[in-house]
Amino acid sequence: MAKLDVFLSASEIDVLTTQLAERISADYAKVLQPNEELLVVVTLKGALFFAADLMRKIQVPTRVDFVRLSSYGARTSSSGTVKVIMDLEEDPRGQHILVLDEIVDSGRTLSFLFDRIRNAEPKSVKLCALLSKPSRREVQVETHYLGREVEDKFLVGYGLDHAERYRSLKDIYALDSTH
Ligand code: IMP
Ligand code: MG
Repeated sequence: MAKLDVFLSASEIDVLTTQLAERISADYAKVLQPNEELLVVVTLKGALFFAADLMRKIQVPTRVDFVRLSSYGARTSSSGTVKVIMDLEEDPRGQHILVLDEIVDSGRTLSFLFDRIRNAEPKSVKLCALLSKPSRREVQVETHYLGREVEDKFLVGYGLDHAERYRSLKDIYALDSTH
């Protein structure tokens, strides 16, 4: 049976999402025209809870869309490692896009998505992640809005899973699989 240690409490997560929402709101208040909305692209399934909390704190008009990607073996070439399982409903062209992921690990997912959306000629595209493990990076990716850097631990809760378990936990836990 795996042992769970609290790594980031719900109240610490709340502080991070509040800070991120304040920065995002201030930046996009300057960028969005009166008739424009920020299109928030949520990477399923992990960013579900992060997106729900963050979006309710963002003070500019938003829309939401979802994408689901799967990573394949990290050893193959970067272009072949990520596959689109469920694509966006909206066309990114001409829109201001903010992509949300709950954690950046190798960087492959966000780098793939960033390039894919940029190729669709949006007005702008930026990336936002709650957490990042810089020591695990294989592909450079600029996370414009980042909650916090973390050490290389396997985390669960607040959307993060291990074999689809633990996603609905309110806190984030480090999974110690040796127990
Ligand atoms: P990347 O493409 O390697 O950056 O992987 C990003 C995705 O892998 C994240 O959005 C998560 O869904 C998943 N992931 C990365 N690290 C963890 C972790 O510690 N726990 C659970 N899922 C993780
Ligand atoms: Mg994810």
